[in-house]
Parts: sequence; structure tokens; C-alpha cells
Amino acid sequence: MKLVNLSRPLAAALLGLALAASAHAQQAQAPSQVVILATGGTIAGAGASAANSATYQAAKVPVDKLIASVPEIGQLASLRGEQVFQIASESFTDEHLLTLARRVAALAKQNDVDGIVITHGTDTLEETAFFLNLVVPTDKPVVLVGSMRPSTALSADGALNLYNAVATAADRASRGKGVLVVMNDEIHSGRDVSKAVNIRTEAFKSPWGALGMVVEGKTYWFRAPVKRHTVNSEFNIDAIRAPLPTVGIAYGSGNASDVAYKALAAGGAKALIHAGTGNGSMSAQVVPALRELRAKGVQIVRSTRVGGGGFVLRNAEQPDDQYDWVVAHDLNPQKARILAALALTRTTDAREVQRFFMEY
Ligand code: DGL
Repeated sequence: MKLVNLSRPLAAALLGLALAASAHAQQAQAPSQVVILATGGTIAGAGASAANSATYQAAKVPVDKLIASVPEIGQLASLRGEQVFQIASESFTDEHLLTLARRVAALAKQNDVDGIVITHGTDTLEETAFFLNLVVPTDKPVVLVGSMRPSTALSADGALNLYNAVATAADRASRGKGVLVVMNDEIHSGRDVSKAVNIRTEAFKSPWGALGMVVEGKTYWFRAPVKRHTVNSEFNIDAIRAPLPTVGIAYGSGNASDVAYKALAAGGAKALIHAGTGNGSMSAQVVPALRELRAKGVQIVRSTRVGGGGFVLRNAEQPDDQYDWVVAHDLNPQKARILAALALTRTTDAREVQRFFMEY
């Protein structure tokens, strides 16, 4: 065989290309390494009989049994599980959020972790997803998943939801899209999604639409988030100390009074989220008290009890500029609470708080 004399630079370049191709091939072959963090909820729930699709006890099945109950996920990724909590998600506190976020951030820094799945109750899943979206600085997939029926029920949804969540977390195409929520074959942004129906498997809706779908272990993407998140966020769990500032929510309705707002402020709330009627509207019986509370330094944020794809327009129903109030834009009251608490770790200036609500 005739040996070809190659110049040193060309030989080095060819060697580099060969090594890169080999590494790429190895990476393409090596299964993704996915960590499943279990926190409880219905996906870990158990009912007395298969007919119990809505009557059951949440937070019973441990993470190793969850993983063992869906052996097919072992074909999608190399898996390991951790039991972070075992609680129903309506009982999450800000301390739970901080603890979970710290664990997710620590795992995301590890080279032997490619994606993270968090099994979670569906009641406050949307709040946890938004919080992690704001404070965990990673572009690796972090995917929250729950179920509307316990594993013991007929046509339980948890197994396929978990399979889909692992498929999404294991897929490099999921990177850089912020924290994701996988439910009922859909992939949602952790920022946008909320539980819109309390007793159906198609419970989770995003007012601006899902980002994509996951079908038979493959992801299909149709949108990407435009709001700041994860690596592009000014919030970082490593710089956040407990306790988070207390933020209260009060619901607007007919025959409204200012009692709840005053009580929340007296109880230590540093911001009040008004779950207003319509465009964040506020009863005339409530406005004077909130103006007084603002003068005492409490942030006032106008959200709306109306879901489904709108946003509260600044200075429309109330003179926000004059009152030095904030509008939650398209965030529902429970998500506004999360962002307001984080905003108050960085500022007490209402205009800066408003910037956070427009950018995140
Ligand atoms: N207790 C509710 C929770 O843990 C059950 C709802 C569910 O997980 O689907 O959020």
C-alpha cells in the first residue's frame, strides 16, 4: 500500500476530525442519564379499588416502585431515582420549593446527568414548574410530570405520563426550552401551563398553547418560549436565601371588602396579588385600603381570576402609574405569587417589579 506523506497540520486536522466523529458517535450511542426526583402526588397515589379514579390517597408509592412499575422507561435512558418528598402538592411550602430547586440545580451541574424528571402532585405543579423555570440555571431538560388518576385506577394515566416525561428529559431536542411539564401526551412550558380542569386527564392547558407533543417516546416541537428563563434568568437558586418574602393572594368578586387584603398584610405579606375580576378590576370598596398598604411599602399586583389566554393591561382598569401598582400581565394569581416573591428578593421598586413581570 502506498503511504501518502501528509503535512503535519493536515494530519492533525484529520486526526481531530476522526476523534470528533468517534466522540459524536459514542455520544449518539450512549443512553441519556436521567434522574427521577419523586415528591408525591397522585402519580404516587393508591386507591381502594380500580373503580376509584378520583378517590384515593396521594403520595404513597415510593420512587423505586414508580420506576419499576413502568419498565419500558429503562429503554429510554439510564435511570436513577431519589425520593425528595412524599407529600400531596397542595401542602408544598416555599421551603419545599427552595429545597427541590437546590437539588435540581446541583444535579444539573453534574456531568453524569443529562436530564431530570420530577414527579409531582398536579395541584401546585404549575407553581413549582414556574419557580424552577426562574431559578435553575441549566439548559438541560427539567420535566415535571403528574397524573390525574392513581396507578391503581382503570385507565390510569401516570404510567404513560412518566414514560413521556422520561422520553422528553432524555431528548437533546428538549434542551434550552426552559422547565417543561409533560401531561396527557403534551409538552408545556412550565411558565405558561396551569391546571385548568380538576378531574379530567386532559387537565393541563397553556393559554398560548403547548410547545409540542411526545408520542411513542419521541418529541415533536411546534413552539419555543420567548420569555426569559433558566440560563437567561436574573434569579439563581444559589443566591436565594430562605425564607422567600411572603406574598398573599386575595380573590376579587361582587360584594368585595378589603378585610382579606388587610389581614394578609398584617400577617406579613410584602406583596398582595389581587385575583381581580375581568381585566384585573378592583372594587371601589377595596381600592382605598390597597393604596394605604402601598404607601406602607406593600407591593400591589393586579392579576385576574379570568383564565384562558388574556393579560391584565396596565393603567386600563386602574391608574397603576399613579398608584405605583404592578400588573401581572398574563400570569395567573398563583404564578404571580411566585414571581412577586422572587422579585422582592431583588428590589422594592414597583417599576422594577413591573419589569420582571413583563420579561419573565
Ligand atoms: N393531592 C393532589 C396533589 O398532590 C392530588 C392531585 C394529583 O396529584 O393529581 O396535587
